[in-house]
Amino acid sequence: MATRIPLIAGNWKMFKTGPEAADAARSLKSLLAGVSGVDVMIAPPFTALATVGDVLKDASIAVGAQNLHWESQGAFTGEIAPGMVKAAGCRHAIIGHSERRQLFGETDGDVNRKVQAALAVGLIPVLCIGETEAEREAAQTFSVLDKQVRLGLEGVSLQNPGDLVVAYEPLWAIGTGKTATREQAQEAHAYIRGLLRELYGETMADAMRILYGGSVKPDNIAALIGMDDIDGALVGGASLEPETFARIVKLGD
Ligand code: PGA
Repeated sequence: MATRIPLIAGNWKMFKTGPEAADAARSLKSLLAGVSGVDVMIAPPFTALATVGDVLKDASIAVGAQNLHWESQGAFTGEIAPGMVKAAGCRHAIIGHSERRQLFGETDGDVNRKVQAALAVGLIPVLCIGETEAEREAAQTFSVLDKQVRLGLEGVSLQNPGDLVVAYEPLWAIGTGKTATREQAQEAHAYIRGLLRELYGETMADAMRILYGGSVKPDNIAALIGMDDIDGALVGGASLEPETFARIVKLGD
């Protein structure tokens, strides 16, 4: 099996002003100085991207956007183009987060356009997928994941396994304090890796990272990361407080 360096990503959602985000980034930078063997990414709000990027420019913590538009420019009031977030210093872009899908009506087609647009400017999409509680109860988890992966990645070719990250985030576990058991998460991750094998071949798929997201905390990260197909985490609430997030990066220590 390919060795995959874990990625711990923090999604700050609609929290923190520019100065607050810069403070948190400064704390993280010092808390994580010298930590190796794990990649770290923070996704602040758009208005804090530049300042956070500046604080982290000589740290090994990457910065990501939480969303983007698929067009490169134009009359799209309120939207941000991929080239803009790239120029603001981003390496990653979270795409298709369940809050975007559920609250802002993003479809798999939109997600696909965004993935392609991000790749076109050299951003690494973090493609979020996951089932609702009702879908899980109706035994539709795999069919939902199947659809989200196939439609989200339709026509998407990848040069390297590091060009794309997938995040499995069961909706019932986001912000609820209810984490999937590590067995439930592993089962979904293995299924997703199987889909990636079909799309990109075994060697590529085995080297691609699949993150788990949904109420990840310092006390459950080690168990999750210990599973074969779980290669890191996308952390919401617990990423807002630097000390807590640093403990997650250090896998619970
Ligand atoms: P949570 O959010 O860690 O607060 O559950 C995860 C996410 O939305 O990515």
